[in-house]
Amino acid sequence: MSQESLGPDPLAVFESWFVEARTHDPRFADAMTLATASPDGRPSARTVLYKGLDDGAVCFVSNYESNKGQELELNPRAALVFFWASLNRQVRMEGHVERAAASWSDRYFAARARTSQIGAWASAQSRVIGSRAVLEARIAEAEARFLDQPVPRPSFWGGYRLQPERIEFWLGQNARLHDRYSYRAGPSGWAVERLSP
Ligand SMILES: Cc1cc2nc3c(=O)[nH]c(=O)nc-3n(C[C@H](O)[C@H](O)[C@H](O)COP(=O)(O)O)c2cc1C
Repeated sequence: MSQESLGPDPLAVFESWFVEARTHDPRFADAMTLATASPDGRPSARTVLYKGLDDGAVCFVSNYESNKGQELELNPRAALVFFWASLNRQVRMEGHVERAAASWSDRYFAARARTSQIGAWASAQSRVIGSRAVLEARIAEAEARFLDQPVPRPSFWGGYRLQPERIEFWLGQNARLHDRYSYRAGPSGWAVERLSP
């Protein structure tokens, strides 16, 4: 794979790789590993779902009071990784993370299934819970609270935007001679370099 064939805009490359991955194997093509770190540098990683690009930022949704939410509050930088096994491709991104605008989160939340909306209210994500029965009781409580009315977005739940400063494309090749291209955002746009595999 040549540098020329990728082109100068890594977000356009990402979008076309994502579409290819989804077409090839739709199962979890939108799943990405999101790594955050505490202010003292202890990393943690988990899977979240990709919710699209918005003005050059990668969007995902979560609970703002979860472990990741608390880490992002104190240390608003993250890395994320897509691995598409069916294509033997990986995309890595690193950058600054901020909360999405309330209007974006409201719109996204309103379009979710009602069960997911109720779930967002019921689950104090990342906190210890005594049993599944406690969770089910919290679901019933939320259902009763919002009976016969639309479920509003909880203030503790919404979107995040990761603004990539580095994007790397990895394409598996024979004999471990994989292709890697690393794009870095700079004052005059994206600069690209080939990396050793
Ligand atoms: C396939 C898959 C998709 C997931 N998508 C999300 C998501 O979009 N948002 C989210 O908050 N958690 C998602 N989770 C759950 C997270 O991996 C994680 O358990 C949760 O966010 C709590 O992480 P934390 O305690 O580090 O904050 C997903 C898990 C899997 C396996």
